[in-house]
Amino acid sequence: MRTIDWVDGAVELIDQTALPARLTVLRIGTVEELVAAIQRLAVRGAPALGVAGALGVALAARHPDDVAATVRRLETARPTAVNLARGVRRAAARLPEGADAVLAEALAVRDEEIAASAAMAARGADLLAELCGARPRLLTHCNTGALAAVVGGTALGAVLELHRRDALGAVLASETRPLLQGARLTAWELGRAGVPYRVAVDGAGPFLMARGEVDGVVLGADRICANGDVINKIGTYAHALGARRAGIPFVVVAPESTVDPDTAGGEEVEIEDRGAEEVLPSSARPDGVDAVNPAFDVTPHELVTAIVTERRVIRLDRAERV
Ligand code: MRU
Repeated sequence: MRTIDWVDGAVELIDQTALPARLTVLRIGTVEELVAAIQRLAVRGAPALGVAGALGVALAARHPDDVAATVRRLETARPTAVNLARGVRRAAARLPEGADAVLAEALAVRDEEIAASAAMAARGADLLAELCGARPRLLTHCNTGALAAVVGGTALGAVLELHRRDALGAVLASETRPLLQGARLTAWELGRAGVPYRVAVDGAGPFLMARGEVDGVVLGADRICANGDVINKIGTYAHALGARRAGIPFVVVAPESTVDPDTAGGEEVEIEDRGAEEVLPSSARPDGVDAVNPAFDVTPHELVTAIVTERRVIRLDRAERV
């Protein structure tokens, strides 16, 4: 089953806000609905956002009232993952050729992500086996499985490939506050695949690494900067610091569509702040209490062992360049 696809003239996607309680497919016929789905994280994860953006332009091309403004709303629905704006721009570049050309481009974005997932899984599994020893116990953060892509996934795709090879120890899924992409979505995917896993609260990761319970950290990215800085779900930086302190590999698996040579370093990236309500619902918040809720953080390149894409392995620990 694909997380997101074009079906009979509309976008269909799994509503990730309903998981793991319910597997529901939403059918989306307008860009307004799609923007709302992106903003409430019904569809999320960098590769899936790229496909959503491109398919959204295909929707806009069929109702060509003020397409430029519609495209802009899509492109800016969430600011941090480079895939969204990239998918939108790629499909929008075909607008002068008409709606069929836009759809063809959007489907190409989808198909490239599907192909990239399989290649990353194989390369990522090879590298994890090489760096983390036999049957490694791996910690992952957020959700980087099929739900974050179209099929397969990025970091979780590599973990699942190790499992298929009967070469995986176990997985620690970091819960990923505040929306629990780890505890809800990664846990759901690992459970369906029959992978042995436990969920850990975000703050436990570095301690469990220090106590010798983790052989490597593997996770995804929302943007990889030209200098190798990695932008990913809030909590990633703490795991990278923990991995460095414990002397274990910190591996990022992401498609080339997440590599952004136009962004020099992490300080240039707009980090989405999702507001106080997600952290402290107003019904349970004492008067006058506010919250800061950055959805992503920046892991400096010097803490990253390697980046794996569908085409290459970049060993930042050996001073290789993105
Ligand atoms: O806010 P989200 O759930 O869209 O954040 C997703 C992440 O940070 C993922 O780790 C990243 O997009 C990689 S997905 C393969």
